[in-house]
Amino acid sequence: MSGSNHVSRRDFMKLTTGAIGGFIAAVIGIPSVAYLISPALREDKAGKPVSIGKLENIPIGIPYPFSFTVTKVNGWERTAASYGGFVLRRTADPADVVVLSSRCTHLSCRVNWNEEAKGFLCPCHDAMFDIDGKVLNGPPPEPLGHFEHEVDAEGNVIITPVELKEG
Ligand code: FES
Repeated sequence: MSGSNHVSRRDFMKLTTGAIGGFIAAVIGIPSVAYLISPALREDKAGKPVSIGKLENIPIGIPYPFSFTVTKVNGWERTAASYGGFVLRRTADPADVVVLSSRCTHLSCRVNWNEEAKGFLCPCHDAMFDIDGKVLNGPPPEPLGHFEHEVDAEGNVIITPVELKEG
C-alpha cells in the first residue's frame, strides 16, 4: 500500500517536473524563436513614398525646407539614411513644383537657402547655387539633385526618397 503510494508520488513528481520544464521551455523558447525570425518579417520602409507637406502651406517663390530619415532593415542589419531638400513653387500652378535635394554635389554637406543672396549656400566650401539648383560659384561639379514627386488628391506633396541627378 505504502509502496504504491511511494511510486505514485514519484510519478507525480516526474509529471510535475516535466510540466514545469515544459512551461519554462515555452516561456523562454517562444519569445526566442519570435526574436530570431522577426527581422525577416519586419517591413522595410526604405524607398517608400513620403509626404513632405501640404501644397497649400508651401509659399510661392521661396524654397520650403524639409527633412526626414528612412530606416532600412535588411535581416539583422539596420541602417538609417537622412534626406533633405526644398520644395520650390515657382507659381500658384500646382503642376509648377520642383523638389530639390539639399545635398551639395561637392562633398555632400547640406546647403541652406539664403533669402538675401537669393541662392543656396553651402557652408563647407562657400559654394552657391541658384534657386533652380545650378552652380553659381565654388567647387561643386554639378547642379543640386532632385526628387520625383506627385501631389495627391488631398494636396500632399509626396516624394520618392531617391535623389536623382539633374539633367
Ligand atoms: S561640400 Fe559643398 S562646396 Fe564643398
